[in-house]
Amino acid sequence: MRAAALTFLLLVAPAWATEPAEADYMLNCQGCHLPEGQGFPDRQVPDLRHQMARFLNVPGGREFLVQVPGSAQTALNDADLARLLNWMLLRFSAAQMPADFQPYTAAEVGPLRKQPLARVSEVRSELLERIARQEQLEVSTVQTP
Ligand code: HEC
Repeated sequence: MRAAALTFLLLVAPAWATEPAEADYMLNCQGCHLPEGQGFPDRQVPDLRHQMARFLNVPGGREFLVQVPGSAQTALNDADLARLLNWMLLRFSAAQMPADFQPYTAAEVGPLRKQPLARVSEVRSELLERIARQEQLEVSTVQTP
């Protein structure tokens, strides 16, 4: 019985093998953001799916993703935080990523995370408005003959 269980574990182990960024997400972020990034929108934890990378398309948004307390205040070092954000963007919001996306680096996130946001929810709402305006603009540009 135990031998069979062990064989089973060995067989399925590769499927469990996680990338380092994924392990960092599971340990540090998933408690609030949940495995699929769906969060708890009713309790102020936003849904990251099809949304996270939209911030990259407006001024201030790229910085916001680093300065938001969940990112800035994590115990992860700068290199691991940069790797984690790059992984999250691809995992939860690949379709919204700009074509010219430059991955975050330790050198970028290090200084940014030291400048915390004073009013997170206000900054977030402003960015969401910018995103909505920008997307409207893109739609109307496309529709103009
Ligand atoms: C205690 C719960 C909690 C944990 C843990 C947490 N977050 Fe968050 N996260 C939030 C909340 C709440 C927001 C909405 C903005 C705010 O109020 O801080 C958010 C927003 C974000 C955003 C911006 C997305 C948006 O739509 O506003 C990013 C990026 C983010 N978190 C990254 C992370 C990362 C990376 C980790 C792990 C290292 C993490 N978070 C851990 C609660 C959490």
